[in-house]
Amino acid sequence: MKPVILVTRKLPEAVEERLQRDYEPILNPTDTLYSSDDIIRMAETVDAILPCHTEKFTAEVIERLPDQVKAIANFSVGYDHVDCEAARKRGLIVTNTPDVLSDATAELTIMLMLGAARRASEGERLVRSRQWKDWSPSFMVGRQVTGKRLGIIGFGRVGQVVAKRARGFEMSIHYHNRKRVEPDLEKGAIYYDTIEALLPHCDVLALHCVASPQTDKLLNRDRIALLPDGAIVVNASRGSVIDDAALIDALQSGKLYAAGLDVFNNEPDINPVYRELDNVFLMPHIGSATAETRDAMGFRALDNLDAIFAGKEPGDRVA
Ligand code: DGY
Repeated sequence: MKPVILVTRKLPEAVEERLQRDYEPILNPTDTLYSSDDIIRMAETVDAILPCHTEKFTAEVIERLPDQVKAIANFSVGYDHVDCEAARKRGLIVTNTPDVLSDATAELTIMLMLGAARRASEGERLVRSRQWKDWSPSFMVGRQVTGKRLGIIGFGRVGQVVAKRARGFEMSIHYHNRKRVEPDLEKGAIYYDTIEALLPHCDVLALHCVASPQTDKLLNRDRIALLPDGAIVVNASRGSVIDDAALIDALQSGKLYAAGLDVFNNEPDINPVYRELDNVFLMPHIGSATAETRDAMGFRALDNLDAIFAGKEPGDRVA
């Protein structure tokens, strides 16, 4: 008998084809967003769940999952939506999909940086609303990133690809990471052993840290004050790493020139003030949203399930 897999969202065709070949999947063709109660009810007969970050597995949800559920094989690199401690206690295997989305997320990060620096939201709105009337030397003047300093908090897979792309703009790379990386990965990037030491060196700050209780509101009022006046902040990791009130104040006061944000607290009901600010470039959590990457994420989640049901250790086990 093939293992039964509850797939919480609609996945790419090739991924669903492989699921149908190797498993007994319960698919979601209408891409309905399930509640925790729906998931618990639907999990009654399943051996594993393949969810996205849109489904929350709190300690309470994990506790209520039927006993035969062996694994949560996430279709995401981030796993802050799963209480891993609760999963460990219950003997539930949890996996994620690292590596395969680093290029797509780095591309989006560069887009956030350029969009924020060159006032992309404003410009696009002007053209679409027919408000664009004229050209002049002082019209829509933004900031150049070429040759500037890029600070990266979280110099893991995505952070390192962002650094590589940013070197194409002759940006100097400065970073903070829990551990300094090896020189062959650093490639000349300058390491700071605290976030506070890094911040004064960032014309652009990119956040690529893992969301956790330790990184909650990591970019707060005190730290924003340490950035150079007129700095740009970009975030394609998780909204929780930013204190929204502090960022909004800094964008309104002019302390920060602009921000580029793909992720938010309480998505999609984001802090409404962001929508009113001209100096933020907003995207709807699409860092990994390319056809190539979405296929690769699905295949990686399936590789993990294949290992689990073959009695092997999955490559991307996080709990
Ligand atoms: C990830 O993989 O963590 C992306 O944010 C999509 O969930």
